[in-house]
Amino acid sequence: MEFFLDTADTKEIKECWDMGVIDGVTTNPSLAAKTGRNYDETIKEIATIVDGPISAETVSLDYEGMLKEAYHFAKMHKNIVIKVPMTLTAMKVVKKLASEGIKTNVTLLFSPNQALLAAKAGATYVSPFVVRFDDISEEGMLLIEHIRQIYDNYEFKTKILVASIRNPIHVRDSALIGADVATIPYSVIKQLANHPLTDIGIEKFLKDWEKVPK
Ligand code: E4P
Repeated sequence: MEFFLDTADTKEIKECWDMGVIDGVTTNPSLAAKTGRNYDETIKEIATIVDGPISAETVSLDYEGMLKEAYHFAKMHKNIVIKVPMTLTAMKVVKKLASEGIKTNVTLLFSPNQALLAAKAGATYVSPFVVRFDDISEEGMLLIEHIRQIYDNYEFKTKILVASIRNPIHVRDSALIGADVATIPYSVIKQLANHPLTDIGIEKFLKDWEKVPK
């Protein structure tokens, strides 16, 4: 299972990349807005830090505009993945980009049927949003299970990229279900490392070490 960092903050990205715990990065307009930086510059800098897939999101909703943005990002670096919202227009863009070997990530996905459409169009990744789905009293993780089942039934190659993750349980459950990727906020990456028994154990070992003759 791959881990992507869900951020546009290059400091966080560098820290996680240097730890060897991430394989790629996902960004979106909201994450970009938090940085207060120019989006193109941010994407280019991320590409100097991370040697793995980097999702850059388009904002045009018409075919020509979306495609223009897609080529603009794709030209920046070989690792750029074009992130498009789940619309019928975007499916046309996905098909065209796939025929040219350009990777895509279909985002804002909330149903197995949307995942089927995206896979048929040739998407490299689909991003089902777990917590935003939970927030409307649906079951985010069940959505991931359903998409996994459908893709396995028909041997679709599209990768399931679990998005809108808020806590370590989402990461564990994504792995148990067999999702291909989890895109994780920096705060949750840090939480993954924590366990109170680890802290207690370290403290005890350090205390006992003081009693060892040196
Ligand atoms: C990932 O690619 C998404 O952009 C991200 O997970 C958004 O979800 P959130 O805003 O609910 O965290």
